[in-house]
Amino acid sequence: MVDCFQTLHTHFNCLIYFSPVVTQALERDVNQANSDPTVKAVVICGANGKFSAGADIRNFANIGQSKFSSLESVVSLIEKSDKPMVAAIEDLAFGGGLEIALGCHYRIANMKARVGLPEVTIGLLPGAGGTQRLPRLIGVPAAIDIITTGRHVPATEALKLGILDEVVEENPIEAAINLAQRVTGQPLGPRRLCLKEVPKLPNMEAFLDEARLKVKKRANGQLSPQMCFEAVRASVYLPFAEGIQKEKQLFMYLLSSGQSKALQYAFFAQRAMEKWVLPNGASWGTADPQPVKKAAVIGLGTMGRGIVASLLKAKIPVVALEQDKKQLEVGKAAVMALLEREALKMHQNGQKPKKPIVPHFTLDFGALKDVDLVIEAVFEEIALKKEIFHKLSVICKPEALLGTNTSYLDIDEIASVTDRPHKVIGIHFFSPAHIMKLVEIIYGQQTSPSAIATAMSLAKSMGKIGVVVGNCFGFVGNRMLTHYYDQAYFLIEDGSTPEEVDKVLQEFGFKMGPLRVGDLAGLDVGWRIRKGKGQTGDALPPGTPPRHRDGMRYSPIPDMLCEMGRYGEKTGKGWYLYDKPGGKIAQPDPWLHGFLSDFRRTHNITARTISQDEILERCLYSLANEGFRILSDGIASCPEAIDTIYINGYAWPRHTGGPMFYTSQVGLPKVLAKLQEYAEANPDIPSLQPSPFLQKLVALGSPPLKEWASHVRSQNSKL
Ligand code: NAI
Repeated sequence: MVDCFQTLHTHFNCLIYFSPVVTQALERDVNQANSDPTVKAVVICGANGKFSAGADIRNFANIGQSKFSSLESVVSLIEKSDKPMVAAIEDLAFGGGLEIALGCHYRIANMKARVGLPEVTIGLLPGAGGTQRLPRLIGVPAAIDIITTGRHVPATEALKLGILDEVVEENPIEAAINLAQRVTGQPLGPRRLCLKEVPKLPNMEAFLDEARLKVKKRANGQLSPQMCFEAVRASVYLPFAEGIQKEKQLFMYLLSSGQSKALQYAFFAQRAMEKWVLPNGASWGTADPQPVKKAAVIGLGTMGRGIVASLLKAKIPVVALEQDKKQLEVGKAAVMALLEREALKMHQNGQKPKKPIVPHFTLDFGALKDVDLVIEAVFEEIALKKEIFHKLSVICKPEALLGTNTSYLDIDEIASVTDRPHKVIGIHFFSPAHIMKLVEIIYGQQTSPSAIATAMSLAKSMGKIGVVVGNCFGFVGNRMLTHYYDQAYFLIEDGSTPEEVDKVLQEFGFKMGPLRVGDLAGLDVGWRIRKGKGQTGDALPPGTPPRHRDGMRYSPIPDMLCEMGRYGEKTGKGWYLYDKPGGKIAQPDPWLHGFLSDFRRTHNITARTISQDEILERCLYSLANEGFRILSDGIASCPEAIDTIYINGYAWPRHTGGPMFYTSQVGLPKVLAKLQEYAEANPDIPSLQPSPFLQKLVALGSPPLKEWASHVRSQNSKL
């Protein structure tokens, strides 16, 4: 918005701008400045200390070609002006904001500014000439990188690349006015990007071929990075005006693809998680977070290390506790290596690494007496967790919050051994904890709203996405995941290979299929959990049928692999064969294929050819089916919560919106019919039986996803 149009200097007007909804206002003011003979140059800057965060994506659903054409025509109007146009970038210039700046003849920013074209992340491309102007300014390789990733480019890098002409310590508006005064009267032709040639590369053709493959591989089925690439490629081969037409065409293709809708949904779903509300009405409005000035982490294994690093990132001093000297040394070395890697990464990204706060490593529970929060990350054993929580309730100050990183266990049972069940909460990180964005915040029956508020505010300060969920075995994410894995195992028993199953899910958009992920995480993790539940191992009652537990189908194959020491990557063998223990190169394993044939023979299973559709539908629909159960049980408050969990914790392809959004797009009647078909064919797999809530939604005429939660409420209402 042109908030103000004021004369800063006799000859210089300043447009304080902008949000693309008022492109017209900018157009009007530029025209006015162009026709006013007293104006010699124009400085375009932003309101409230920010140049522009780009388009308001809430409007994208209703956007048509005309809106984008008009932004492009304003950029073009600015570029064609006979008066020097200078962009004074404060803080940020993203998307349409940067495109406006690219239309200007000069660009100046302050030191802490960042620029970028993030449209790709919401399934689109820069549609106001950005894909044609940026490569002309900085060359094709850098433009491909910035436009296909949507990354934020710090001012110092943008200066080196040539996006900016100057970076100043203080107010860029002053500097822009000075520059405008200096350049008035100089020819503007060389400053107009539309007239520039794209810088040549000696091997452009080969470079583009290779870059296209790289972008496609990284995109994992997402169209926008690929279309961004094609638009930049067009700048190499087409004159400017035709390149703009190509950009428009690709933009409209993306807008109508469905992926941009899914990505925008995912964006808003994630944002909505910040505003949690419990079924009893508790929310931010009724609960204040407690300050966390000092925290403790118990157990420095796979998870504890990353949790320590995440807390330190939020500048919270940490006491890091282990069970014995040896484990403490191992944990300490791992944490310190992690912190060093993080500092190096910051350095490589041009950020100044801060002086790290070193954790206080200890074996002494007494060191926990003054902490405000404990996060327990010891082995997944209920007896051990209870023993620790009992100890904590004796040692920690009464107001300290006691969190557990358990993946599956009952928060209420853990809370029951403490003197403060209202201060016990699940804080479930995902591996690797210093990288993965998701944290499930699990409330038990007695967890206080203030404890939830504290955990949510902690998640935010660690740069993570907290999603508040209810307490049940596996909470939201892992409870649904069990069904996805079960289907993968049953499909393999029935005739598929691990490679076939993984390929189908990879083509859907997962970076790795379920079997490859299993090998990566370690097959022994699930094995230990199943042993704990008495589904396998010594606790299994004699006479239990090998392929059934409690009358339900069960695949013993993962247990059998573990019994043979095939834990996955770490042992060099699992569902795949690896180059070495700890190796990353997975190959199909002829031994495993033979083993599967023997298994089918032993159990009289006639292998059948299973279609790709069946693989995809059984894996995805069974997972989403459990999502409908979770909604109707009130464990997740809305489908957006489930989708946010899956996208950020389980690498579900964001461009499909998450499992619940995906089913809504497939169509609930189709999902229901398919589940019914598979359930009939597999009566011993109850997870394929359509959930009553899914059936109810279909009976209601498949209302849009945003209405599902209200149907749960009406279903559970006691009135
Ligand atoms: P881990 O086996 O890698 O590490 C557990 C650590 O706890 C070990 O270093 C062990 O020495 C320490 N420990 C055991 N008893 C202790 C005691 N009495 N006092 C102090 N330290 C003690 O286990 P991991 O994978 O880090 O899992 C920890 C918790 O996090 C479990 O509850 C698990 O379910 C959960 N989790 C695991 C994820 C994963 O991907 N590994 C993901 C999310 C949650």
